[in-house]
Amino acid sequence: MGEIITANRANNINFNLVIDRRNTNCLKYDFAVRRGRPENVLPLWVADMDFKVAPEIVEAIQKRTAHGIFGYSEVKEEYFEALEKWFFTHHNWKVEEDWLVKTPGVVFALAMAVQAFTEPGDAVLIQQPVYYPFSEVIRDNHRKIVDNTLILKEDGKYHIDFVDFEEKVKNEKVKLFLLCSPHNPVGRVWTREELLRIQEICEKYDVIVVSDEIHEDFVLEGRHQVFANLNEDAKKRTITCTSPSKTFNLAGLQVSNIWIANETLREKFKKQIAAAGYSQLNTLGLTACEAAYRYGNNWHSELIKYLKSNLNFLRNYLKERIPEIQLIEPEGTYLIWLDFRELGLSEEQREELLTKKAGIWLDSGAIFGAAGEGFERINIACPRSILEDALHRIERVIRENRKTSE
Ligand SMILES: Cc1ncc(COP(=O)(O)O)c(C=O)c1O
Repeated sequence: MGEIITANRANNINFNLVIDRRNTNCLKYDFAVRRGRPENVLPLWVADMDFKVAPEIVEAIQKRTAHGIFGYSEVKEEYFEALEKWFFTHHNWKVEEDWLVKTPGVVFALAMAVQAFTEPGDAVLIQQPVYYPFSEVIRDNHRKIVDNTLILKEDGKYHIDFVDFEEKVKNEKVKLFLLCSPHNPVGRVWTREELLRIQEICEKYDVIVVSDEIHEDFVLEGRHQVFANLNEDAKKRTITCTSPSKTFNLAGLQVSNIWIANETLREKFKKQIAAAGYSQLNTLGLTACEAAYRYGNNWHSELIKYLKSNLNFLRNYLKERIPEIQLIEPEGTYLIWLDFRELGLSEEQREELLTKKAGIWLDSGAIFGAAGEGFERINIACPRSILEDALHRIERVIRENRKTSE
């Protein structure tokens, strides 16, 4: 796919448009009942977006499907060049072609890394509340979860407890650290200084770092720092997980790009993937990925503007009409962490209120670890009218709840 797809049509994207996703085998909309939720629940849980992808991606897929043969596929230099340009322009990171290992998802890569770089019983460190597959891939592979819990401070932000981090690394003999950067669900975009302090500890105790940077293109404030790009030591101890799936809304096409500069680590990781019986990626996923990084720039900048306006809307709405719910101000991601603790409800009571009475589906904070209890995660990557509908519903049930508790 070398030729230029003509004028960029990102300006034609209407993020306000509500597109009916029902009856498309859509995990977010079509499986509520199977997952124990009411039929017509409004879903704002799983991390994909209700927006149509950049037109250039659709066009590239259509062109590929028109060929009509879908045999095993690989990629050529053009694929790498599209990615290289994106990472350099957006993150000031110069990747090399031989660092790249493609996997059918970031969670798959996390599991492969756990298997490749640790033995059963070894300690793997995470920072809860964190994206729940982090603990699952450790537990399911019979490794030990060590949690350096993030601390919510008076400034309304989550912080790393570095003393606890070092003590745990040392005492538990941690082999591997799964870093979430930017962090899902607390929305932190870690600063260079914070990441450097982590890197120093990892260097001191020789901990391998798997840096899940899948949300790197959703920075609302500040700048994303690629962990592996901090310095030479970080470069040689890091497995960096990236993917077009969040940035360009391609989760169902299952392509991720994992970058490992250290040849020894890379060969071990590749061997583990081979042992799992995996080799070639999905043809359409590869086509979409290349088109996304090559042509998706304008679409992506329009998207960020829209997400920022949704965030402003959410912030103002809560402040003015549902002040019992505190928004944890995100610096990144489109997954917003809401503090419901002031309402004094148990998880079951919150579930009853939100899912049964309000008819909305959020991710309950407890699934991200014990530190998430009392919180909910809401996905704001949807047309404004859907977000508004969800907030009206929450407001209504909270108002009723106020009355009954008076
Ligand atoms: C931090 C993080 N990592 C990984 C994933 C999922 O990645 P994949 O679908 O490529 O396995 C998500 C999805 O929400 C995520 O938030």
